[in-house]
Amino acid sequence: MNYFRPNIEAMAAYQPGEQPRVAKFIKLNTNENPYPPSSAVRRAIETVLDGGLVRYPDPAADVFRRRAAELHGVEPDWILCGNGSDDILTIVTRALVGERERMRMPYPSYILYETLADIQGAQYDPIPYEQDWSLGGTFTSGADDLKLAIIANPNSPSGTQIAPRQIAEFAERLPCPLLVDEAYVDFASADCISLVRENEKVMVARSLSKGYALAGIRFGYLIAQPPLIERFMKVKDSYNCNALAIAAATAAIDDRSWLAEMRTKVLATRTRLIERLRDVGLQVTDSEANFVWATQPELDLGRVYEQLKEMQVLVRYLGYPGWNEGLRISVGTDDQVDAFLNALGATLV
Ligand SMILES: Cc1ncc(COP(=O)(O)O)c(C=O)c1O
Repeated sequence: MNYFRPNIEAMAAYQPGEQPRVAKFIKLNTNENPYPPSSAVRRAIETVLDGGLVRYPDPAADVFRRRAAELHGVEPDWILCGNGSDDILTIVTRALVGERERMRMPYPSYILYETLADIQGAQYDPIPYEQDWSLGGTFTSGADDLKLAIIANPNSPSGTQIAPRQIAEFAERLPCPLLVDEAYVDFASADCISLVRENEKVMVARSLSKGYALAGIRFGYLIAQPPLIERFMKVKDSYNCNALAIAAATAAIDDRSWLAEMRTKVLATRTRLIERLRDVGLQVTDSEANFVWATQPELDLGRVYEQLKEMQVLVRYLGYPGWNEGLRISVGTDDQVDAFLNALGATLV
């Protein structure tokens, strides 16, 4: 069978984290929010169900763009909506990076960036993080032919964040747009939105999946200067966001007190989880996200992952060639984290 473009034949498929369809698992493997979304979301969805499904949705999701623009202090034409931030990443890559062209991202990071480059038939340079998860000048060196750079900030799997000033310096030095993927920023101490106004090369992607507990609804958005947004609009599917998702996302970003309360709870649990993991001898990176990255060269963490799974606790085991292996553990509710810690204790005896 040779119907397919050679790069599609050759590429590996992106492997999403396991999504078991049975409820028995304590699921700390894909960084979903452990709390239900704002009650305003349900009301917004019910309103659409009452007669709003017959017609196509607004192609640009203007109602969301207006609210997001207010939130971020920009105009609506600075916002592009997507079917999850993965859709935003797809639109940006499709629009900017052609066959045999080159994009760049740090390593280890979100593997989907590599998959998107593969789909384009493009090249990519994974630039290794330092051992302390900092990123040096190599990120911008020898970059003349780059078409796109992407940094997950906070990064996955480390949960670490690069300071906005350094991101601004990278953008100054790069010849191409820099997409700052802020999927986890609702749990972080800084963000890069102000850089979008300072430099047209900086674009920020946001997700409703993590901070707003809407992974199942699929909604994300991009903040970039209007000439870029206008061109990305040409690339997106006409109706890339459905009516339920637009209503749910708009209600969610409007409920600021829900976000603040949820954030306080998740950050407190994150601190406790990190302390307990360190108490039992794991090396844990300080986290700016709703997950933590734990390593321990003296342990077989693949085996720990398997044992946890047997005890119906699911975390993400990640091994990066040329880099160490580790467990990425999402911050659940206090009860979920306690159950995980108990199960982990049993694997370590
Ligand atoms: C760094 C990063 N960016 C983007 C995404 C995608 O998020 P969404 O659910 O908005 O597509 C993820 C999901 O895990 C992620 O880890």
